[in-house]
Amino acid sequence: MVLDVNLAYQGEDPGAVQYGNFINYYSFHNSNQRIEGLHASMFPNIDTNEDIICLDIGCNTGELTKEVYEYLKIKIYPTSSIHILGVDIDPILIQRAKDLTNISDITFIKSNIMNEEDQKIIAQYLNSYNKKKFDIVFCFSVTMWLHINSGDEEFSNFLKSFKNYTNSLIIEPQPWKCYRNAQRRMKKSDSNFPLYESLKIRSNVELFIVDTLTKNGFIKTYESPPSKWNRKIQSFHSIK
Ligand SMILES: C[S@@+](CC[C@H](N)C(=O)[O-])C[C@H]1O[C@@H](n2cnc3c(N)ncnc32)[C@H](O)[C@@H]1O
Repeated sequence: MVLDVNLAYQGEDPGAVQYGNFINYYSFHNSNQRIEGLHASMFPNIDTNEDIICLDIGCNTGELTKEVYEYLKIKIYPTSSIHILGVDIDPILIQRAKDLTNISDITFIKSNIMNEEDQKIIAQYLNSYNKKKFDIVFCFSVTMWLHINSGDEEFSNFLKSFKNYTNSLIIEPQPWKCYRNAQRRMKKSDSNFPLYESLKIRSNVELFIVDTLTKNGFIKTYESPPSKWNRKIQSFHSIK
């Protein structure tokens, strides 16, 4: 599926964006504090001689990606080589991520995770490390943007496809309230999310995500307490 990608913000409000591609995200959503929701028990045991290959979906300007890299390196896998691929739909954010990050183990590429052609680029990165799946996939505050722009069915298929990408998923879904706020911001700027009214998965979206993942190869292994933004970070491991 090819999305109609409109990356500009609507009207005068940088918060009225179709894909959550906020230009100033980390000035109001501090990346240090986000890391506090992570816990050692979320992460798989990996042979220390192996390279650890991770994917960060919807990395924005890469500040959280960098924090995650340092957290993994210092706290979880101190003797391993860690490599993270950060992908984002917005090329301007990806360029900023590249400019701001000087860690050679982190690669940023512009990629729409819902687009089949772009998924091939991600697969190439994985192949370059001789891996079939990522060791860990991170999906922080991006589920709503995929859902609201693709609709229930595509979103559900996306969740089902995780088992092809990884055995270990860390996910921070947005609750329904965030969807309502996003639609309100768009409407104030005389725009909207065209699929919003058609969504049937609504107030139950967080439950839907857990249910879909657990019916499709994963078990939930940890859930953080809610952040001050009322978001929980959950880890899922595949059933071997
Ligand atoms: C709210 S930000 C979250 C940034 C980061 N993951 C975090 O939690 O700090 C959502 C990001 O997802 C990106 N995004 C939205 N739809 C996407 C898609 N289909 N493919 C890749 N990135 C996407 C946006 O451009 C935006 O940078």
